[in-house]
Amino acid sequence: MYICICNAIRDKELAAASRDARSVGDVFRKCGRRPQCGKCLHDVAEIIEEQRASAEQSVLAAE
Ligand code: FES
Repeated sequence: MYICICNAIRDKELAAASRDARSVGDVFRKCGRRPQCGKCLHDVAEIIEEQRASAEQSVLAAE
């Protein structure tokens, strides 16, 4: 599913780029693109949070 229509970036690409990302800007840089209209920024921030939560769960499960 496309999350960023302006740049044709799909959710899976954003999820991969969100690993270890600190900001929405980091994610766009990893994708090699720049935000344009900004409508997707909230969704990208949510994807970063999901990746962060998932990484934390993995660490806790490994302990
Ligand atoms: S939808 Fe992502 S910048 Fe417009």
